Amino acid sequence: MTEHRSPDARFRTSLLEENEGPATNPTDNRTMGEIIAARFSRRGFLKGSLAVSAIAATVGPLAMIAADGARAAEGSAFKFDELEAGIDDKHHVAPGYDADVLLRWGDPLFADSLEFDPTKQSAEAQARQFGYNNDYVGYIAIDGSAEHGLLVVNHEYTNPHLMFPGIVSIVEKDGKKKAEVAPLSKEQVDVEMAAHGGTIVEIRKVSGKWQVARDGKLNRRITATTEMALSGPVAGHDRVKTNADPSGTKVFGTFNNCAGGVTPWGTYVMAEENIHGYFSGELPEGHKEAANYKRLGIPEGAYEWGAHYDRFNLAREPNEPNRFGWIVEVDVNDPNSTPRKRTAMGRFKHEGAESIVAKDGRVVFYLGDDERFDYVYKFVTKGTFNANDHAANKDLLDEGTLHVAKFAEDGTVDWLPIVFGQGPLTAENGFGSQADVLIETRRAADLLGATKMDRPEDIQPNGVNGKVYVMLTNNSKRKADQVDAANPRAENAFGHIIEITETDGDFTATKGKWEVLLKCGDPSVADVGATFSTATTAHGWFGMPDNCAVDSAGRLWVATDGQGPKATGRTDGLWAVDTEGAARATSKLFFRVPIGAEMCGPLFAPDDQTAFVAVQHPGDGGEDWEGFGRPSYYEDPSTRWPDFKPDMPVRPSVVAITRQGGGKIAV
Ligand code: FEO
Ligand code: CA
Ligand code: CA
Repeated sequence: MTEHRSPDARFRTSLLEENEGPATNPTDNRTMGEIIAARFSRRGFLKGSLAVSAIAATVGPLAMIAADGARAAEGSAFKFDELEAGIDDKHHVAPGYDADVLLRWGDPLFADSLEFDPTKQSAEAQARQFGYNNDYVGYIAIDGSAEHGLLVVNHEYTNPHLMFPGIVSIVEKDGKKKAEVAPLSKEQVDVEMAAHGGTIVEIRKVSGKWQVARDGKLNRRITATTEMALSGPVAGHDRVKTNADPSGTKVFGTFNNCAGGVTPWGTYVMAEENIHGYFSGELPEGHKEAANYKRLGIPEGAYEWGAHYDRFNLAREPNEPNRFGWIVEVDVNDPNSTPRKRTAMGRFKHEGAESIVAKDGRVVFYLGDDERFDYVYKFVTKGTFNANDHAANKDLLDEGTLHVAKFAEDGTVDWLPIVFGQGPLTAENGFGSQADVLIETRRAADLLGATKMDRPEDIQPNGVNGKVYVMLTNNSKRKADQVDAANPRAENAFGHIIEITETDGDFTATKGKWEVLLKCGDPSVADVGATFSTATTAHGWFGMPDNCAVDSAGRLWVATDGQGPKATGRTDGLWAVDTEGAARATSKLFFRVPIGAEMCGPLFAPDDQTAFVAVQHPGDGGEDWEGFGRPSYYEDPSTRWPDFKPDMPVRPSVVAITRQGGGKIAV
């Protein structure tokens, strides 16, 4: 627990993403990143004549950053006019585009769904409505159409202080406003559980605008209580058996589904990330899972689920955490199908699961483990993809080889197989089977000598140029003596992007080459050491790369998480990043989110005519709301995006961006 965390669990949910679990360095020293970040507070907010105590002054358009001309990068793949960076309570898109809200938290998804009423929330209503904190967005075409398909969306987590009326009261303590948050009722916890998971919903483009089909036969909500199966090597193992499931094969629900993917055979994969926050209580003294859970920061106790359900209390159900931290595969063509946790793909804080078919037909999934000093993985299926018979691909994810990356100083990367019986992964180190290796994937990777990275987030293979892009969001805890070639900055506050080229363009290769595409942060501050091209404007640079997408022309788009008034003087957003030729490492701002949000998605429709983006946790910012000295909460949020109605809370939403007059997003 670090000092900037609220003592109150309901605000700790805001900080889950920072992965400041007890397993990480607990020192309170002010890092270089924080010192640099303080410059942005002065330069951004104070220079903009904003009183930090005056909430009203913080909303509305702020032109905080001097435009320095629209310098065009030589050979840039992106011709759109750049959006100005800034901070306010709305979303903004580059000139010439529309950004329309498509799906909001609480929107009805079925013909029989109740309309959203934030004052009458129930688990039953929420389970038939769009969930909270949309993250991954995928599109699965119906009959090959780019204008009619299933949108699949992860609902990563909940922010109760922004969701529920009447639970926050403000008290003055030592001259500062502090929030006191009432414990959640069981009914509220049930709403939270129903707001987690995923949404599968039919959408259609009509006269250039996307619509949700409430009568879609395949519409589905997946929640923290949906019955699912454990499959692959861990299924049935003693370490995943519980009172509710003595077979070790049947799990109830999924949560903290961050990024994900759509497989080449058209299923939806959801990555279970910060699972530690959902467990509380203490393991029985001397329990054999103690070291396993410590390596994952379990229990962290940000959520109160353990107060109402034994399975989230380690004292009552010590094996339950081993049933989370997996990749979940959902067959979207049958709304009654049982989602399957594919244990062969390892157990850690899975960020995403983007995939590509290799030359020989095997399928390769790139997987990040989002924690400071954790690892980059890839999973290579044993079987090959059958494009003509999707049913034949049904269990491809149950067999294959998980690898972890070791980045060498000479610019090569070795993908080390994580296989029981090979190298140190033996009984001498406490592994009795591949199931043991997979349950403790992190420890197996530790023993193999994998490279400790600066928080691996989304990893995207690019089928057009054969490269792989690795988003490394930040790591303020890396010390100068822990720097290596692949993580070249101490106190890396702004993150970087690595580009991998697999040997012979073969994504299954066990060796490749890598280089740093971009060190992020403000290039005008020498101490930051950012490497954006000189054609990048004052609006074009960013920090904290998180999610990314490649459009069908092979161009890279990067979404960020963690910017804001204190960190970079701008909100999160979507940036277009050149990767080729003289324009390489030029970045341009395309879309930005309202205050408090992070940018998730992004996703391009197959015809590149729509960019779907997910605005996650708008109005959030922890108890001091990113330096304003007051919390942002249900009754007094920093924004009421997207409805801006006094009786509507701020609502995480998916936005569809299209070009005015039609056509591809970027030509
Ligand atoms: Fe949920 Fe790693 O972001
Ligand atoms: Ca993420
Ligand atoms: Ca994130």
